[in-house]
Amino acid sequence: MKINVVLSPANVDELYFSGKTTVVVDVLRATTTIITALMNGAKEIVPVGSVEFAMKASSNMFGGQTLICGERNAKKIDGFNLGNSPLEFATEVIGGKSLVFFTTNGTKAIVKAKYSDEVIIASFLNLSAVAKYLAELNKPFEILCAGRNSSFCLEDTVFAGKLISEITSLSQDVELSDSGLASVSIAKTFGKNLKKMFSESEHGKFLIENGFEEDLKYCAKLNITDDIPMYATNIIKILHQQNSERQVSGLSTIS
Ligand code: MLT
Repeated sequence: MKINVVLSPANVDELYFSGKTTVVVDVLRATTTIITALMNGAKEIVPVGSVEFAMKASSNMFGGQTLICGERNAKKIDGFNLGNSPLEFATEVIGGKSLVFFTTNGTKAIVKAKYSDEVIIASFLNLSAVAKYLAELNKPFEILCAGRNSSFCLEDTVFAGKLISEITSLSQDVELSDSGLASVSIAKTFGKNLKKMFSESEHGKFLIENGFEEDLKYCAKLNITDDIPMYATNIIKILHQQNSERQVSGLSTIS
């Protein structure tokens, strides 16, 4: 199984993902928040690539059952219901609701991967579940790091390296691209203490400066869920694995 890491979405175009299996990661904070929202009972998430489209998409959905969420410069956008802190996405707030979600790097990366055969949403929260799933799938795949402002970022690369190491411990049949090899090495250097690595990273420092230090602690939680969100037909839902048949639950009113 060949594994490649795309270190920034700017390195490829949408068609690059055509027919591939892609894991999208933005550990600080978009994919951590998406996983948290679904874990806490959100019905579905519609990731979008612009604020304008978020407004349009939410106006086509059912009033009261839809929340519009996301950030600009880490802060909640005027007129949105929620920002991008995973700590905001409690069951009482988002349970049963559809969430239209825009973030600066994370949701754009997810939308960029839309031509993939399969798009998996990952973070440290579900790393082991994703590793097990991919090892069993035994197909080549891409890890798309959302990065920061079209550049490399440390925290997503550390995630990529740790995911690869875990898959390598589950499967004999792994071949790595150069970026895959480099990610494993970077994870060995920086991945021993995730909270510390976050607080040394550029985006981690920015989040601390903006009052989100608690989010760093939360985003560093490892393997607190087996949920594997999948992005298909414009919507993210949790994958349910039943008798080795794979299906994404229920789809949706809005596509
Ligand atoms: C993003 O998508 O750029 C991030 O999730 C930013 C943030 O920390 O809110």
